[in-house]
Parts: sequence; structure tokens; C-alpha cells
Amino acid sequence: MSAGYEKFLQEILIDEQTLQARVKELGQQISADYADCDDLLLICILKGGVVFLADLTRYMTVPHEIDFLAVSSYGKGARESRGHVRIDMDLTEEITGRHVLIVEDIIDSGHTLRFVLDVLQARDPASLRLVTLMDKPVRRTVDIPIDYVGFEIENKFVFGYGLDLDEKFRNLPFVGVVNLESLPEDV
Ligand code: IMP
Ligand code: MG
Repeated sequence: MSAGYEKFLQEILIDEQTLQARVKELGQQISADYADCDDLLLICILKGGVVFLADLTRYMTVPHEIDFLAVSSYGKGARESRGHVRIDMDLTEEITGRHVLIVEDIIDSGHTLRFVLDVLQARDPASLRLVTLMDKPVRRTVDIPIDYVGFEIENKFVFGYGLDLDEKFRNLPFVGVVNLESLPEDV
């Protein structure tokens, strides 16, 4: 039986093996960089970061905690970030004085991460860094300091491996390019 995503898939951009190899590398690199840190907290940005977080945390070899922050751009169904971001669900942990690493799925305009960085920085962590699975640098309108990048990608709308297409298909093990002609105009 078809899983239903096929008609929306133009091409596979990053296959499962390539994703896993790169996430493993990131896990090893981050573990080396935080080898002397005994108070590391990974903050996953929901919902898109959850699949990346689940793999990254299992490739890491330094002790760490995880927490979740859900944010959204105002409105629904838009492919473009409108620059207005809000917290839908806040952290359960205090981060003051702690070493924080934000785990994000993709950085596009940068509005979402600018908001998240400002909110978290105001809580006075000991350090605040960012790992993103994907980066679309040509789309950036707000400058974001990124510490770790999995893949730089072109200006294409992608889904799978945590990223949704109208809230579905986050479970795909690969990142695919959306066939825009397959979508209704408001998605
Ligand atoms: P930004 O605020 O424009 O940087 O957008 C960041 C957020 O938009 C990400 O956290 C994603 O949830 C979403 N996003 C950006 N590009 C894509 C994409 O190609 N596919 C799915 N979601 C995306
Ligand atoms: Mg999204």
C-alpha cells in the first residue's frame, strides 16, 4: 500500500544513509566539543526538530539532558515565515547558568531562530549554541550565528525527517523536495 507521500515527492534530496552518517558525525563533533561540560541541555525546537533530536541524542557520548520548546509563526499553512513568532509550549527546565544547545530542523529566513535566541539569551544561560540539520543560506533575511550545520541546501521546499508537508510525513527517513505543482495553493 502506498504511504501517500509519493505524489508530493519531486526527488529525494538527502537519503537515509547520508542523513544518518552526517548526524552521527555531528553527534561525535558535539560530544568532543562538550567533553568537559557536565551540564549540557539540548533544546529541541518542535515539531520539526524532533526526528533529528532523537537520532542526534543517540549518537552523542557526553551526558546531557533534553527539553522541548514549541514555537510557531503566526497563521497556518504558509510556506513563508511571516516574521511573527510565538511560544506555543515553553521549556520545563530553567536554563540560567546552564550550557544550552538548540536543535533545529532548518533555518530559512532566520526569523524563528532570531526569536528563539533572544528569548533564551534573556534567561542568561552559561552558553548558547545552535545546531541545525539544514540551512538555506540564500533565503536568510535575519543574521543567525550557526555553530553546527548538517547540510546547506538550495532554495527548495523540503519535507521528511521531521519536516512536515501540511503536518504530515514527518516520519519519512529521508529529506525530499516537494513537487510544488502537486500542492493546493494554500499549503
Ligand atoms: P524561518 O523562520 O523562515 O527561518 O523558518 C524556519 C521554520 O520554517 C523551520 O523551523 C521550519 O519549521 C519551517 N521551514 C522552513 N523551510 C522549510 C521547508 O523547506 N520545509 C518545511 N518546513 C520549513
Ligand atoms: Mg514546519
